[in-house]
Amino acid sequence: MLKLEHVSYQVTEEGQALSILNDVSLTIEDNRFIVITGPNGGGKTTLAKIIMGLVTPTSGSIFYNGTDITHLGITERAKLGISYGFQQPPRFKGLRVRDLLELAAGNTKLPREACCQYLTRVGLCADDYVDREVDASLSGGEVKRIEIATILARQSGLLIFDEPEAGIDLWSFSRLIETFQSIRQQRNVTLLIISHQERIISLADEILLVADGEIRHRGPKEEIFPLIMADTVSGCCYMNEGAHK
Ligand SMILES: Nc1ncnc2c1ncn2[C@@H]1O[C@H](COP(=O)(O)OP(=O)(O)OP(=O)(O)O)[C@@H](O)[C@H]1O
Ligand SMILES: [Mg+2]
Repeated sequence: MLKLEHVSYQVTEEGQALSILNDVSLTIEDNRFIVITGPNGGGKTTLAKIIMGLVTPTSGSIFYNGTDITHLGITERAKLGISYGFQQPPRFKGLRVRDLLELAAGNTKLPREACCQYLTRVGLCADDYVDREVDASLSGGEVKRIEIATILARQSGLLIFDEPEAGIDLWSFSRLIETFQSIRQQRNVTLLIISHQERIISLADEILLVADGEIRHRGPKEEIFPLIMADTVSGCCYMNEGAHK
């Protein structure tokens, strides 16, 4: 179980305190499929990075399976079973796709067959990619899919994906949806996916709507979807004016 208690995150910009997340409290039971959605700049990625330990909250606490992980680093959290896929994944010059998969699987030698299975699950033709370097020669969508494959290889209990659909073509997207569905059927895996995509949102047990650094709503798709549609132009007087013309 993942539990956030009164988590806030503030930064100081040009001497001004800027609040990115405000007093977020959240409990996610095991084996759930949760989608976090909401407007750009609402705080979704910051929330995910706080859970992974990439960003330290200004206040509040985070517990994973009863352990206080608030002050643990990324590696320690990964060892406890938390994985995170970046919205814009980094590249690793000098490392091959196969090396990344092996590192993710716990630095053990993976048979070519196993590497290929992970790549196939994200819609990549394994033969073309398994020995390629994860450098600037790969396209954005290819890097994104390779990163998702490494998260699958990690066998974690809590998988966090930040906009897995971003930059991914329709064919690979369908494959990805199947992969999420099959992960969902496994026991002992909690999926926390940040997404704007209706097909991913439709898979969720529950949706969290994050806006202005707060969890605005939480509930099943039937409840949250109309709120998302109704809320698209709120908050900006110019956009509201335009919407009423
Ligand atoms: N270190 C920082 N310094 C200043 N502003 C920040 C910092 N980190 C995040 N922000 C701001 O906080 C807000 C939330 O950012 P975040 O990346 O969490 O949004 P998001 O919900 O993931 O948006 P998107 O849907 O565009 O990915 C944004 O306005 C962003 O510019
Ligand atoms: Mg984001």
